Amino acid sequence: MCGIIGYAGHKSAANVVVAGLKRLEYRGYDSAGIALLNGGGSLLTVKTPGKVTELEAELGAMLAEKTEAGKSGLAIGHTRWATHGEPTQLNAHPHLSPNGNFAIAHNGIIENYLAIRDRLISKGHEFRSETDSETIAHLIEEAYEGDLQAAVVTALKQLEGTYGVIVISAMHPDTLVAARSGSPIAIGIGDGETLIASDVSALISHTKRVVYLDDGDVVTVTPDNFDIVSLKDVPVTRGATEIDWDIEEIEKGGFEHFMLKEIYEQPAALTNALRGRLVHKDQTTKLSGMQMGPADLAHIDRFIIAACGTSLYAGMVGKYYLEDFASIPTDVLQAAEFRDRNPIIQRDSCMLAISQSGETADTLAALREAIRKGATVMGLCNVVGSTIAREAGRGVYLHAGPEIGVASTKSFTCQVAVLAMMSVLLGRTRRLSAEAASRMIAELARLPELAQAVIDQEPSILSIAEKYAHCEHAFFIGRGYMYPAVLEGALKLKEISYIHAEGYHAAELKHGPIALLNEDIPVIVAVPESAGKAKTIGNMQECRARKSPVIAIATEGDTDIAAHCDDLITVPRCQEFLAPIPVVIAEQLFAYHVARLRGCEIDQPKNLAKSVTVE
Ligand code: M6R
Repeated sequence: MCGIIGYAGHKSAANVVVAGLKRLEYRGYDSAGIALLNGGGSLLTVKTPGKVTELEAELGAMLAEKTEAGKSGLAIGHTRWATHGEPTQLNAHPHLSPNGNFAIAHNGIIENYLAIRDRLISKGHEFRSETDSETIAHLIEEAYEGDLQAAVVTALKQLEGTYGVIVISAMHPDTLVAARSGSPIAIGIGDGETLIASDVSALISHTKRVVYLDDGDVVTVTPDNFDIVSLKDVPVTRGATEIDWDIEEIEKGGFEHFMLKEIYEQPAALTNALRGRLVHKDQTTKLSGMQMGPADLAHIDRFIIAACGTSLYAGMVGKYYLEDFASIPTDVLQAAEFRDRNPIIQRDSCMLAISQSGETADTLAALREAIRKGATVMGLCNVVGSTIAREAGRGVYLHAGPEIGVASTKSFTCQVAVLAMMSVLLGRTRRLSAEAASRMIAELARLPELAQAVIDQEPSILSIAEKYAHCEHAFFIGRGYMYPAVLEGALKLKEISYIHAEGYHAAELKHGPIALLNEDIPVIVAVPESAGKAKTIGNMQECRARKSPVIAIATEGDTDIAAHCDDLITVPRCQEFLAPIPVVIAEQLFAYHVARLRGCEIDQPKNLAKSVTVE
């Protein structure tokens, strides 16, 4: 979604901000802009619909004439994912106040902006854009009496909704003010320079020392200092965190796309997710972040998993694990549905919020609702220090490393691995025998090797993708552990290739969707060795009888499948519970190659964002 970057320091702020905007591109956006200090005490903005490279070109032309602005050490920038008004130059951020003295960039949604706008228009204000955000610039100008931070606080107090906002003023040439309510803001502390961003990936090439704002914090930043206060003007202290990953991890490293790089990173990501957590000698797992001893674990009598998208499908696999191995009834709910349904939370229920980014608005709202209802809560996040991780207070990090491609890949497989480890831990406080746990742990240890074996199949998956890349519709079917795996396969294909793809339980096809099948609609069938295999083979025959080509994803060496499919992708033999991991990796590669052959913009698919921070 939208991204924010601000810089106060000794370098060319324009260059730093444009480079930062490029780092934020992966979040998904449709226009971009920058505001910077112009020589004679005024502000200058450059904004373009489209990509940051277009902004860069326009800014370059502008700075060739206005050389003073090019030397400015103060600037803010923004990538906008349109909500209020189309992605046009006028609607792009930063927005200037009417007198041009204040520029703001905003992430989030101001819910009461129409009322504020009407009031300001009645006082003579003229608005240039259709956005909710522009009202913030007007309110700051209205409140300003010489103190920038005070004016920002007065403006923010009038807002309802969510914001991560950053402000500069022509009258304060070395100062940035930023604030957070529901939309993340981090401060990067450098040497004679301070940065502010909505996402640490925009800061990491300058500093690894960051401070995260909490909701209600307002920070005033200069090149050498930062001060945080609350909206009530009470000083606030927030500790700094060292980022433990490097800039190379968010670069493509020779791969054509981040998505492919991240697919290839899965053996290493899984190794990191498992590291130190499999305790072979005690036939259990160790997940210290859960902060629960055996007595606490034994008390949990129900799990409620809330998540969105790929994380939701990982949660579905998690439900099967928690029920099959820990005998704990588990509900999985789309996070918005969890909150909207006013869920029943019993005393020993535990809510697990799953989110790669840790910033997804619906998942965060569900977590907050569960906290309000007194549930024990846990987060399962990848991004360290993200809002869900911090507000949950306990949980498990994936350690998958930064995921830049909009399509989730390594986060899914690591989420599933972590959920399997949770089920072993919880199962051992119940009826999971030491022998069964031991077998599961040994199989979990094989995950990096299983993932690599699928990645090694890329050439054959590519040739199958070549056969079907022209299709406009596809179905994915599977049963048992393969049901969530095919939902994920269909999501992957549709989001990056724009092929209409639907995932169904294999048994459900004949209850309606089978009416659509014909020779132009392939059915991808996940059918590795499992209890339900024979029935799924029957479903494959039903598809072929309607002339649909069948692509089977089956266990290597399984001689039952080839006769019932047109194309075969093999995955290595493993215990049934872990099969979603190799099967989904095969689906990721299939989706990737179909999308690449169709010439799609794989890392930033249209209309999508990496981190969905609106409800
Ligand atoms: O960061 P989260 O895991 O909370 O994100 C949830 C979904 O937005 C995300 O999984 C989305 O569905 C992906 N683009 C799927 O590839």
